[in-house]
Formats: sequence, C-alpha cells, structure tokens
Amino acid sequence: MTTKTIVLLPGDGVGPEVVREARGALERVAELFGHSFAFSEHAIGGIAIDEHDDPLPQATLDACSKADAVLLGAVGGPKWDDPKRKVRPEQGLLGLRRGLGLFANLRPVRVHPKLAAASPLKTDKVEGVDILFVRELTGGLYFGQPRLREKLESGKVRAVDTLEYTDEEVRRVVHLAFRLAEPRKKRVTSVDKANVLESSRLWREVATEVGAEFKHVALEHQLVDSCAMRLITAARSFDVVVTENMFGDILTDEAAVLAGSLGLLPSASLGEGTRGVYEPIHGSAPDIAGKDIANPTGTILSAAMLLRHSLGLTREAEAVERAVDEVLSSGARTADIPGAGDALSTRAFGERVRAAIRA
Ligand code: NAD
Ligand code: IPM
Ligand code: MN
Repeated sequence: MTTKTIVLLPGDGVGPEVVREARGALERVAELFGHSFAFSEHAIGGIAIDEHDDPLPQATLDACSKADAVLLGAVGGPKWDDPKRKVRPEQGLLGLRRGLGLFANLRPVRVHPKLAAASPLKTDKVEGVDILFVRELTGGLYFGQPRLREKLESGKVRAVDTLEYTDEEVRRVVHLAFRLAEPRKKRVTSVDKANVLESSRLWREVATEVGAEFKHVALEHQLVDSCAMRLITAARSFDVVVTENMFGDILTDEAAVLAGSLGLLPSASLGEGTRGVYEPIHGSAPDIAGKDIANPTGTILSAAMLLRHSLGLTREAEAVERAVDEVLSSGARTADIPGAGDALSTRAFGERVRAAIRA
C-alpha cells in the first residue's frame, strides 16, 4: 500500500474547525477502503504571520510542493486587516496558488433538492441547478504588474492594479473548461467584459479559437454584468462557466446563494499535474469563528474533490459525496442554513458525515 501525503493548511478563523471535519472524512475513507494517508499540518495566512512573520513560510510551500495534495481552510481576519499592513494573510494563499502553478479553480455549484427551499430565491429558480465554474486563478488583477501606490506631485495619492492576461493563460484555462464540459451538458459560457476591456477582447478571441476545436460543445459569450443577473433569473441555463480571476471570485459567492449557504461550496485548484489545493470557497468567517457552528460541508466536499482529482480515487470521492447527500437529505443542518431549527454543531455534522461514509 503506497502512502499518499496530504498537507493540511487550516489557516485562520473557522479554517481549523472545518479542516478538522474534512480530515475526519478522509481518515474514515482510508479505514474503509484500505488506504494510507499521511497528514502533516503547516501554517499559512494570519497565523503564519504571527508565528513566522511570513504568510507563506518556505517550509509550508516546500511541504505543499512535495505533497500529493493540499487541503486548506481559510486565511485572513480582522486581526490582520489594517489596510496599511504591508504583509497580509491573503498573500499567503495567492503565493501558494501561484507557487504551485494552479491556474484553474473548479467551483461546482449544485443545489441539493432538500435545500432548494433554503435559498432566499424562489424554489423553482434554484431547483436542478448544476453549474461548474472554472475560475482562472493565477492571472488578472490579482497578479498583474504594475501594482503600486504613490504620492503625486499634486499631493494626490494614486493606486494602480493591472488586469493582464496572455493568450496562453487564457487558452489553457478555457481548454480545461471545454474538456470538463464534454461529459456534462456540453455547454460552455465564457464570461468577460469585452465591450470595455482589452484583456476581455483577447479572452473572447482565444475562447472562440478553443471552441472551434470542440465541435460537440456549444460556446456562448456573456458579459459579466448580465451574467450576474442571469445567475439569479435563469441559473439552470448554465452548464460550465469559464471566466477570469476576479469575475470568478465574485460570481461564485453570488452562486452560493442558489445553493443555500456559502458554507456548502467546495473548490479544487489545479495546474498541469495532479497536485492540487482543495478548499471551500468561503473565507475565515470571523463572525462565527471558534463557536463550533461553521458549516464544514464545503471543506468535506473539497476533500472529495481531492480524492478524485489528486489521488485518482473516484469511488472514494463518490462515497464522501453520497454521505454528504444522505446527511443533508436526512434533514441535518448547521445554523447557516435558513430554517435550520435545531442546528447541529460543526463537530456533530462532521460526525454524521463520517458515519454515513460506506465502502
Ligand atoms: P467569509 O466567506 O469569511 O464570510 C462571509 C459570510 O459567510 C459570513 O457571514 C460568514 O459567517 C458566512 N460563512 C462563511 N463560511 C461559512 C461556513 N463555513 N459556515 C457558515 N457560515 C459561513 O467572507 P468575508 O467575511 O468577506 O471575509 C473574511 C475573511 O476571510 C477576510 O479576511 C477575507 O480575506 C478572507 N477570505 C479568505 C478566503 C480563503 O481563504 N480562501 C476566501 C474568502 C475570504
Ligand atoms: C477566495 C478568496 C481569495 C480570492 C482571497 C482571500 C485572496 O476570496 O478564495 O475566493 O479572492 O481568491
Ligand atoms: Mn472569494
């Protein structure tokens, strides 16, 4: 039995609480399916600034570079939020994504039938929604140069961020989106702001070129502003949505409203190889941290994506997804789900999922 190495980066806020439950699910999988997973824990984000003066210590990046997969909680929080700070927790996460070359962030959004009524949107708008967002993760405004702040002679202060993409950066992520659409409904929506931005016009051109290689997959282009609206009015009409870094960040938090809670959504950040970073799409949720009430579902489902994409363990991934499905079908809820009533703690919910995993 070969041992698979999994680095855990619990991070800040609710990160440690939700990662603990996802680890529990992975340990149960190892037990039931006869695998050996070796876990090691490292610092990232605010806690790494506190302990090592660095949001991404070299030891953390080294461990992640050697691991089969990385499971991350969240970074950031009010303690490190002063806008004047030079070193920020979020830089740790961005450095990790870039350092490992993880250019594609897969964010599936599925509405569980029993949770359709939990969305603030009308049930008939959210039932049956099944969207796979493919968010570009190592380009755009997050990394473009120049990036600066300066005092002008006039006394005004000027700040600059740069939205930059090369054709290659666009091509590789759009290509992946098309490959992922093939076994699905064979529809790709490429989202941009080509009516205004030069980078979006390049994006649209390249997406069209890539689309021509996939004769059996339909491509449509949509502007990001109307896409944000269509997500609310006609979410079922989407299959795979591919978009640049910041548009993808914003649209997926919006899409969480369809599912019923931000705490439900997982993600996989992938590059060329099989190594990936898996994390819920939510943040450190400082308002509920340390209370044992965070929803661990997004992180547990991220662990399922880890099993599938980095370890090639499809049956095991499905076993975890089935367990989550079953627990939600049984009516078990954490407090973030509207109408939860007698809500379960993070630990209790995690325990239900562990108990529901079967080989
Ligand atoms: P957030 O995602 O942390 O929280 C938004 C809202 O959703 C809050 O009301 C929170 O309580 C709720 N929520 C989030 N996760 C939940 C869960 N698992 N269960 C129940 N409720 C949950 O966003 P924010 O408040 O804008 O950001 C807080 C901090 O998190 C910031 O420092 C930000 O930079 C950081 N952040 C980190 C990541 C990441 O590490 N990937 C992602 C987003 C935000
Ligand atoms: C996310 C977060 C991060 C992002 C931040 C914390 C850097 O919002 O993972 O969605 O914007 O990518
Ligand atoms: Mn985000």
